[in-house]
Amino acid sequence: MTVQFSPASQEHIASLLARYPTRRAVMLPALHLAMQEFPAMDDEVCQAVADLLHVPMVDVKGVATFYSLFPTEPRGQYSLEVCVNLSCSLNGARRCLRYLEHKLGIKTGETTPDGRFTLRGMECLAACDQAPMMYINNAAMYTHLTEEKLDQLLQELAP
Ligand code: FES
Repeated sequence: MTVQFSPASQEHIASLLARYPTRRAVMLPALHLAMQEFPAMDDEVCQAVADLLHVPMVDVKGVATFYSLFPTEPRGQYSLEVCVNLSCSLNGARRCLRYLEHKLGIKTGETTPDGRFTLRGMECLAACDQAPMMYINNAAMYTHLTEEKLDQLLQELAP
């Protein structure tokens, strides 16, 4: 089955195409819209973006797979995105990641069997001064992580 953007997103992308200097310049806004509408940036979604922008699908896939914020696999309800870059690692991010792996019973990159949590290790998320830190669903930022804070957070997210 072919995936299709909603009429509202199609209209929004059309308006961006009219404003931006090139079709490729609309790539990132279109990819962000795609992530709001679809669970992952798989080949079908990349093709839908390519069709809308009238660019080769390989160009869309190249951009989408370059950025870790566009996952190619569906994520759980909560995507725990722990920064493991230098500042965060020096301040305990890897220990936090191992702790989350232990608590959730999954490895980094996996999703819990109930589909609730996906655990991801990320490159720098631009909050180095608040390390270690993570995002949930690329939206809510949690900083100065400790095992106690992670316990509290998991409790809040529990059903
Ligand atoms: S190194 Fe983690 S936010 Fe920059």
